[in-house]
Amino acid sequence: MTMRNRRLYSGDSPEAVQRDLLPLVDFQGIGRPLAEVERLIESSLLPHLMQYDQVGFQSMYNSIPEPGATLGARVALAHNQGVTNWQVSPGGATLEELCCESLCRLFQLSDRAGATFMYSGTYANQQALYLALHKRAELDGFNFGEEGISGFRDPSRLAILTSEDAHFSIDQSVRMLGLGEQSMIHLKVNANRQIDPGQLQRTLEELNGSKDVFCIVATAGTTSTGTIDPIGTLSEVAQQCGAWLHVDGAYGLSFSLLPEYQPRFHGIADADSITWDPHKQLGVPIPNSLLFLNDEQDFARMTLNSQYFNRASSHEPNPGLKSPPSTRPMSALPLVTSLLHQGMNEVMEKLRVPLVSIQQLAEHLATQDDFESWHEPETGILCFQHQPDHIADLDRNDLQTYIYESILSEGRRSISITQLDDAVVLRILVMSSRIEFADLLETIDDIRSSARNFGSKP
Ligand SMILES: Cc1ncc(COP(=O)(O)O)c(C=O)c1O
Repeated sequence: MTMRNRRLYSGDSPEAVQRDLLPLVDFQGIGRPLAEVERLIESSLLPHLMQYDQVGFQSMYNSIPEPGATLGARVALAHNQGVTNWQVSPGGATLEELCCESLCRLFQLSDRAGATFMYSGTYANQQALYLALHKRAELDGFNFGEEGISGFRDPSRLAILTSEDAHFSIDQSVRMLGLGEQSMIHLKVNANRQIDPGQLQRTLEELNGSKDVFCIVATAGTTSTGTIDPIGTLSEVAQQCGAWLHVDGAYGLSFSLLPEYQPRFHGIADADSITWDPHKQLGVPIPNSLLFLNDEQDFARMTLNSQYFNRASSHEPNPGLKSPPSTRPMSALPLVTSLLHQGMNEVMEKLRVPLVSIQQLAEHLATQDDFESWHEPETGILCFQHQPDHIADLDRNDLQTYIYESILSEGRRSISITQLDDAVVLRILVMSSRIEFADLLETIDDIRSSARNFGSKP
């Protein structure tokens, strides 16, 4: 086994991992020396952690932070600053505000734009939908924060339009907002897994005013295929029907930093809100997410003052007025130190690596009779099926599942699997800039070898 493809983790079963970890949670009256705790962690936990720095890790949005990010995370940990407001951390609160302003400029958002750090993209999406609903309530003449859902004459009319490939956190958001999943209208995607503007228009016509579409959610980098919805067109439709446009760029927004990729994000500066996860493609330590708003004033809808802090009369920087957590980590620091250390040129070079290697993989598979890609790659993800001649069409989905499971059980590689319409497809995701086309070819070889055992007795 070479250094480039060591095991990704122990490969042990869930039962074996649990057995190893039980001593860690056997809390006793008498404590243990730190060195002993450290040895215990090293022997029982570390072997079971996923090694994101291995080139065989080609499945999920995780990575090992680069040294600049690690430095910021170390300082944040050493000082354990909460940054909800000036009183708990003058430097931390101010840094978060300055970083948000700087990021709005970096992404070329409107002069009025603002941002807040969040614990995760899921919460950023949730807050965006809350703000969209708040805005709709204002148009209906009441304050959503005060009256809640009961302020709407008929809450069952409220609807959100998004793609069938949108992240499940959008569904989760409508549950949390009390709208229920009945409020979601999932649009069928086109052959390249994007929202089809024609389909959107037809859906609006069919609804014929029976629903009150208060929000359209575009995804910039869908979870399954990394596809970017046509944001500009969706923005025009949202304006026509008076809906809020939210762009979920948790994964994909990073790529808009590349000048050659900006046309794909055309219209994003007009979106009312955007989610971004630097803890995905930028490899900044978790948690590191942001919610951008086109108009910073819209954050006022989140504001809750109290007598002991976040007072209405205080004028110092107060990130806690823009999003819920009242104890919030100094997430801005690792992002700041990472961008400062690498410089934007290096950040851009690293962003190009997954785009190039996935494009090369797609071009290669197009020349292979036994593989079929399920979409044109737009970011660092490719979904495809292995279709060797000797496998009947009916068995194709089972074959992909078999390949996925056997590759995972070998422990040197991690790919993922998903379902697009009726097809089960394999999914390769390149996060690390260390992963080269040759590493992806090795994965393709492994897929072929695994498939040869399909149907034979274990
Ligand atoms: C498109 C998209 N949106 C939102 C999320 C949720 O983000 P988080 O995992 O930070 O909660 C994900 C996660 O994979 C995602 O792919």
